[in-house]
Amino acid sequence: MDQTIPAVTGRPMTEEADFLQIKSIDHIQFFVGNARQAMYYWWKGFGFQPVAYSGLETGNRESASYVLESGKIRFVLTAAYHPTSPVAAHHMIHGDGVKVIALEVENVEQAWQATTSRGAVSAWSPREQVDDQGVFRTAAIQTYGEVLHVFVDRSAYHGAFAPGFRPLDLPAQPSGLAAIDHIVGNVQLGQMNRWVNFYHRVMGFRQLQHFDDQDISTEYSALMSKVMQNGNGRVKFPINEPAEGKRKSQVEEYLDYYFTPGVQHIAMSTGDILTTVLELKSRGIEFLRVPDTYYRILPERVGAIKEPLDAIQELGILVDRDDEGYLLQIFSRPLQDRPTAFIEVIQRRGSQGFGKGNFKALFEALEREQARRGNL
Ligand code: FE2
Repeated sequence: MDQTIPAVTGRPMTEEADFLQIKSIDHIQFFVGNARQAMYYWWKGFGFQPVAYSGLETGNRESASYVLESGKIRFVLTAAYHPTSPVAAHHMIHGDGVKVIALEVENVEQAWQATTSRGAVSAWSPREQVDDQGVFRTAAIQTYGEVLHVFVDRSAYHGAFAPGFRPLDLPAQPSGLAAIDHIVGNVQLGQMNRWVNFYHRVMGFRQLQHFDDQDISTEYSALMSKVMQNGNGRVKFPINEPAEGKRKSQVEEYLDYYFTPGVQHIAMSTGDILTTVLELKSRGIEFLRVPDTYYRILPERVGAIKEPLDAIQELGILVDRDDEGYLLQIFSRPLQDRPTAFIEVIQRRGSQGFGKGNFKALFEALEREQARRGNL
């Protein structure tokens, strides 16, 4: 890819410049080893509701997929039936991980034309799948690693998720996870700006924030990050790369186990983080913990907040404040055996940041886990 693209501007984009007109993140698809068991994890652990299924019983001889929803969040979990499936190959190399970040658009043809004419590599050209529930339109392009952006237009489709799926209606106890706040990609050393430029030039995103290794470093390791945001601000994709440090950066550990760039974490918002985290913990979801010293200086660092400090400390929730307000956040342990993807739960009270004030304490907590794995 061309590396001589002019600097990304921070100016708000005009309607015309926002040529993709992304309506929402339609879904995130994980390729996993066992979709049925993964479904139970998101259902019983995170409170997602299983809403659709595709597999042998629906005539799908290739793979089994479960669709789950929580608020506006939609996950698809897919596993292969046969070793020759590309899903099986993906799983063998990467373990469980995100394959697709699907974006809902008005016009799939236009989105595919606009991005491929700007240099995106097509994964598939615009296609229509038709059944008695209507027409489901998609097209797809490649992004970092083996991740795809699938453009989706479901405006003329009225069935369960997509053709080939049948509805599931399993009762769920919601945990309050409401929407995708941001999705972070890990790329190799020296590749961050290439992907920042990709999102700017090919997708029409602009750069929202930039964190360098001074912001994100501990005694041992460092990383750099730039946050890319689409025209209407609904989609935020931070891109991380490792930076030089005394020991192995968490981004390097990720790359060592995922074997390619990929999705590092998915941040999901809640309107009540205290209730959501209490609920998730009671169901066995494990979160990273910072030392209690973090909470001793918290009141003077962030000032008055609405939530009781003892509950914040008890649950291990992190708080950060900037000019616009504050945010509360917490990070899970890895979702699978490999130390790769994890999730963040976030509640924003005005702040549109990413918790810069928590980076050091958080990354030290991450490094303690890395050391336990023998990977620091
Ligand atoms: Fe995050």
